Amino acid sequence: MNIEEIEKIEEKYYANTFSRLPVAMSKGRGMYLYDVNDRRYLDMFAGIAVNSLGHCHPEIVSTIKKQSSLLMHTSNWLYTLPQLELIQSLSELTGLKKTFITNDGTEAVETAMKLARKTTNKKEIIATENAFHGRTMGALSLTWIEKYRKPFMPLIPHTKFVEYNNSAALKKSITQETAAIILEPIQGEAGIIIPDKDYLSEVREITQEKDVLLILDEVQTGFGRTGKMFAFQHSKIKPDILCLAKGLGGGFPIGATVFDCEDFEPGQHGGTFVGNPLASSVAKTVIDVITRENLPKNAEKIGNHLMDELAGMGMSVHGEGLMIGIKVEDGKKTVMDLIENGVLAIYSENTVRLLPPLIINKKHANEFLNIMDSINQ
Ligand SMILES: Cc1ncc(COP(=O)(O)O)c(C=O)c1O
Repeated sequence: MNIEEIEKIEEKYYANTFSRLPVAMSKGRGMYLYDVNDRRYLDMFAGIAVNSLGHCHPEIVSTIKKQSSLLMHTSNWLYTLPQLELIQSLSELTGLKKTFITNDGTEAVETAMKLARKTTNKKEIIATENAFHGRTMGALSLTWIEKYRKPFMPLIPHTKFVEYNNSAALKKSITQETAAIILEPIQGEAGIIIPDKDYLSEVREITQEKDVLLILDEVQTGFGRTGKMFAFQHSKIKPDILCLAKGLGGGFPIGATVFDCEDFEPGQHGGTFVGNPLASSVAKTVIDVITRENLPKNAEKIGNHLMDELAGMGMSVHGEGLMIGIKVEDGKKTVMDLIENGVLAIYSENTVRLLPPLIINKKHANEFLNIMDSINQ
């Protein structure tokens, strides 16, 4: 089937929700994806920071085979051991006490919003300008982009936005009704916006002083992407609530809200599929491989190599670890040029976003750099 035929079927049957790149994939191995005509592409965005171990990692495949032949779903009426192993592991990694497992990132944010209201008995949640926290009605209320919000108004009341990377403005905006502040340690969807070095620790200090919960949305920055297991570890602080997803499943849908605040009571929150043994066992495998192979360190090393070389080629580049933005005239055009040359990346306006699998090595990085250099001539 060619791409035009594929586009026609999608147009006829699929909700009009995605502006897709004109390629259809059929398989993946490590750092590479293969399209339906078996053309190979170097994957520099990992399904939006998801395929942390690359494609079809043998340990993920083996876990799926093993667990799916044992037990895939029970609902949360029953205990399963993979779920228990995962929540213990998340507590150890984050230093936070409890976990609610979700199916994705937006559910992790919804969970955080409910926890914040329940714990504080207050209504207001403050988010930051340009933030992206998801598209369900709660998470959308904390997402900045007008185009995403407007057709669905009214959203959740008692939510507001303050300038990102401005702790003074944040302090001023807190009222008696503020339950929590939510922010991304690095704003991903906005084009990889990195705040000042002290921003997170200042926000932590303010939230403690004002007795307001700090929710960090590490759906995109978590699990090694920025060079530490979690981005908050660069600032030596700890949030009260941490939202996770994407890289946690390495391609399998799963998220989590890990927290150190008041807990729910049975019935106040839940989900049929959440924390099923298959998803939980895959996530545990992903965590084990990231930890054993020290992939956060690799993210730092290869990320610095990519950024140094791109800057050396005269490009305007910014990032932390393997969360890299390159400023270009037209993001879409550069991404299309990269695709022509067998490289997959994504863009936000005039920023090309690189979020490659954490298993990337110098050879892959140089393959990308050579192609980027050639299209930049
Ligand atoms: C920071 C952040 N939060 C939440 C989400 C929503 O996650 P999901 O698409 O898994 O629902 C995203 C997705 O891009 C994100 O980047």
